[in-house]
Amino acid sequence: MSQQLLLNNGIPMPALGLGVFQSPPEETAAAVEAALIAGYRHIDTAAAYGNERQVGDGIRRSGIDRGEIFIETKVWVSDYGYGETLHAFEKATRKLGVDRIDLLILHQPAPDRFDRTIAAYRALQQLLADGKVRSIGVSNFMRHHLTDLLAQADVVPAVNQIELHPYFAQPDVQKANAEHGILTQAWSPIGGITFYPGWGEDRRNVLQDPVIAGIAAAHGRTPAQVMLRWQLQHGRSAIPKSTNPGRIAENFAVFDFDLTAEQLASIDALDTGVRNGPDPDVPRPLFERVIPED
Ligand code: A2P
Repeated sequence: MSQQLLLNNGIPMPALGLGVFQSPPEETAAAVEAALIAGYRHIDTAAAYGNERQVGDGIRRSGIDRGEIFIETKVWVSDYGYGETLHAFEKATRKLGVDRIDLLILHQPAPDRFDRTIAAYRALQQLLADGKVRSIGVSNFMRHHLTDLLAQADVVPAVNQIELHPYFAQPDVQKANAEHGILTQAWSPIGGITFYPGWGEDRRNVLQDPVIAGIAAAHGRTPAQVMLRWQLQHGRSAIPKSTNPGRIAENFAVFDFDLTAEQLASIDALDTGVRNGPDPDVPRPLFERVIPED
């Protein structure tokens, strides 16, 4: 069993996808294949992850028809600009080995070059009009970025993918998305960003949270499954990352139980309002990273 969400342009998207951020290229094809065998039909990657080629390999290895799989990828900041972003689409499709992308999004707003961010979005609109992508969107856009974008855009983004786990739920961005008919998609949906090795040993690991552990025990489920249920029952898309076949399957076994309204509220109450990932308003040297042609 799976679950579909309808994007604002009528395209159905599987709510739960496999994330491949930080999946080493040599492990990515196997993870994608394992996910597709486990029932996933949505894979989320990015030019900046350096593993689009391996995502394509995993899809082909699975033997599952391309038409059944929803492929989402992201344009990196160094490719922002109208012509550059049209070219980024060519790079992405070449690496993925596909003609069309189901959802192409801007990886983040670039506050130091917002005019190029807008030009990049205009290129996405053109790709959509040309039928080269089925839907377009953004990632890491805060309310004010959405306001600025929408003042100049013709197409409302279908999706805004943001850091979203129980310790950082960004209610205001979720509200802004909802006001515009943009679907909220959670990155780090089980809070990987709160425990990635080397990303700050002092961080509180949401996977070890006692409230979530209590709810998991009550349902005979794992904390990761409870967090994914929380995402889905709030109507969000989520893209948990794993390269471990057991955990990939575990993260998809979430369509046969329900959290109560009280349990959802007690997870909502865990929000600390403190971001774990990069601040979308701060330009980073990483913006200059060049995305290879092949
Ligand atoms: P691994 O790839 O070894 O499974 P997020 O998507 O929220 O950022 O979380 C990703 C992190 O969580 C990765 O470190 C991943 O490691 C780990 N992970 C994924 N699924 C589970 C799970 N079901 N239980 C525990 N850890 C998980």
